[in-house]
Amino acid sequence: MIRNLIRIEDVTTQWWDGLYSTFCDILEHPNDYVDACRGKVMASLFFEPSTRTSFSFQSAMQRLGGGVFGFTDPATTSASKGETLADTIRVVSAYSDAVVIRSKLEGAAQAAALYSTVPVVNAGDGGHQHPTQTLTDLATIAQLRGKIGGITIGLCGDLKYGRTVHSLVMALEKFDNVRFVLITPPELKMPDYMLDHMRRTGQNFTEVTSLEDTLPELDVLYMTRIQRERFPDYNDYLRLRGVYVLTKDKLRAAKSDMTILHPLPRYDEMGYDVDDDPRAKYFDQVRYGMLIRMALLANLCNQKRETPHSHPLTTNINCTNPICVTSAEPYLPRLLSLEGGQSCGYCDKSLI
Ligand code: NCD
Repeated sequence: MIRNLIRIEDVTTQWWDGLYSTFCDILEHPNDYVDACRGKVMASLFFEPSTRTSFSFQSAMQRLGGGVFGFTDPATTSASKGETLADTIRVVSAYSDAVVIRSKLEGAAQAAALYSTVPVVNAGDGGHQHPTQTLTDLATIAQLRGKIGGITIGLCGDLKYGRTVHSLVMALEKFDNVRFVLITPPELKMPDYMLDHMRRTGQNFTEVTSLEDTLPELDVLYMTRIQRERFPDYNDYLRLRGVYVLTKDKLRAAKSDMTILHPLPRYDEMGYDVDDDPRAKYFDQVRYGMLIRMALLANLCNQKRETPHSHPLTTNINCTNPICVTSAEPYLPRLLSLEGGQSCGYCDKSLI
């Protein structure tokens, strides 16, 4: 049992197995779950734009018989009057049974969990993590390929700012025999803290720049969008957009049973002609995402309300990541995560 889902590292494969078996049961017997969250309410705090993820959570909660309140436009909230995240969460958690939060600030969900009396789910925090997208990706791989391990997966595109791939790597490394091929231009390669982590934990990975040359080896291709909104300099984005474009023609070189995934939305990295290819599974992925979120909410919304306890590992070092939640919410205790030396307990960037 977990209390919050902030980083995908928070969960074990045993927990995943339980969640996946609920997912399979929901898939087969959806009617058994129509009252699983009856009388419960989910708060949906989207401080950053979303259609897929916020609708997916809302639909999941409604299918479980629960209610939803929230916003997708922070301009309509007290945050625009200068209310702190801590106070927003104290108030919102008093009204709800689970809080789902998305923010452009890295570590925002971790910060929220410090003040919430109900479970907190990270629906994406800046370029850091997106753990429920990863649950979606795992469920899709398991459903379509029968198991998760024993694959060569190509992660292609913006591995620097793309939070989905950070969470996906952290999750897949818990399964046997996964080989990663990181397909990215040098400017968009995985952040150092991720690469250090992959080296430290002995992951089997290579970094390449050519999608075409890599395609024939892949069992799963995970395409991603270049994250325009996260570039500090828009000209850098303009130079890099369109760097990878998957087309039906290029797919001739790929294995006949390769699985093509994409967290969506797509921009120009995947042509519409790919959609008709039987290997294209990103719209199945969308549906599995809603079902795995049902499994998650059925578990989290039925937990007891608890007074949040403070985090024991604090430091007096300030995080220098300008989009770390601590820079926008300066009252937050400085948390330390001990992985790989000293890193920020919110955004995981190195403090040294
Ligand atoms: C992703 C995200 O928000 O990080 N979208 C999603 O949640 N499905 C991917 C993206 O925006 O590129």
